[in-house]
Amino acid sequence: MKVISVVGARPQFVKLAPIHRAMKAAGVDHVIVHTGQHYDPMLSDVFFEDLGIGDPDVHLGVGSGSHGVQTGSMLAALDAVFDEHRPDWVLVYGDTNSTVAAALSAVKMHIPVAHLEAGLRSFNRRMPEEHNRVLTDHAADVLLAPTEVAMGHLTHEGLEDRSVMVGDVMTDVLFEMRDKVGAEPSRLVAELGLEPGEYYVATIHRAENTDDPERLASVVDALSALDRPAVLLAHPRVVAKAAEHGIDLQRGTLLTHAPLAYPDLINAVMSSAGVVTDSGGLQKEAFLLRIPCTTVRTETEWVETVQLGWNVLANSAAEIADAVRRPMPATTFEAPYGDGNAAERVVEVLSAGSLR
Ligand code: UD1
Repeated sequence: MKVISVVGARPQFVKLAPIHRAMKAAGVDHVIVHTGQHYDPMLSDVFFEDLGIGDPDVHLGVGSGSHGVQTGSMLAALDAVFDEHRPDWVLVYGDTNSTVAAALSAVKMHIPVAHLEAGLRSFNRRMPEEHNRVLTDHAADVLLAPTEVAMGHLTHEGLEDRSVMVGDVMTDVLFEMRDKVGAEPSRLVAELGLEPGEYYVATIHRAENTDDPERLASVVDALSALDRPAVLLAHPRVVAKAAEHGIDLQRGTLLTHAPLAYPDLINAVMSSAGVVTDSGGLQKEAFLLRIPCTTVRTETEWVETVQLGWNVLANSAAEIADAVRRPMPATTFEAPYGDGNAAERVVEVLSAGSLR
């Protein structure tokens, strides 16, 4: 069996790691195509190195641009790659512009498409990710759902026949990294002279929080007035937008630091008092590490983290300040994101062929 994985953005590299390993173990001819959506070494290369993926087989070098320009450049480049390799499957990941571009190119070439992390919904049609995931789910031939909630959305949209619950591959890679580096002291703590357990890890990168200067200023104000230091691991997008609008990212309780490699991020979160984020992946990682999370969004796709008490949605400065100070959530042994063996299930499903 030959499978092409198309990835382009940081969270996709994390999901790729356990998939690549499981594909190799099963003797699958696995071709990795990097669209180039993320190109900064700290958003891209370090993940391939630290997670033992090796170099991508094909790099499209698409880079940044408006949605249309970026997605269109990927589409234009992918046709030739799929034509050359003629895989049994194209595997797409999550909800980025790289996801929808690869799905669209492959279905039009009559190459079966499998969508990993299918069925997530925010029901917020202002998010580019919501369009990417809905369009990809409806285009794909096999929908690999991470949770029961995701399966429910797919069933509701009439996609049940094409859907299969495999669990969440992020659990696979997170548990492995936790066991590998969890006992080591955090390098971020040492570098910034922080007190373990007495700081927050923050990330903000979503368009809805960064693109409107008033919104960005209010989130930054909130992070600079907390009860403990908040280390913003700043995505280049937030740095660029803050500079453009004269918003200071280094004041009060707010400290700004470059994005971290995956092992350092996991370590930094494990030693923290909590996470403040608008990232989907980090909400789940915090839950899996049982670190309280505050999500700076009006809704989340990962509803289980909220239902189980480990995640709180907060938007105003007062809501964020209250949420980070809340008491430790009640212990839970629920495992809505699977058992850490999702990648093997993905390979089994693809090896068995179409569900239809
Ligand atoms: C993308 C995904 C988002 C995902 C996130 C993970 C889409 C629509 N969005 O958002 O779903 O959660 O990746 O991080 O696909 N930039 C750099 N260097 C880079 C990459 C980006 O400086 O290596 C800057 C550029 O100014 C660029 C901006 O960040 O214009 C946004 O990058 P882009 O890839 O469009 O979206 P993300 O915000 O990273």
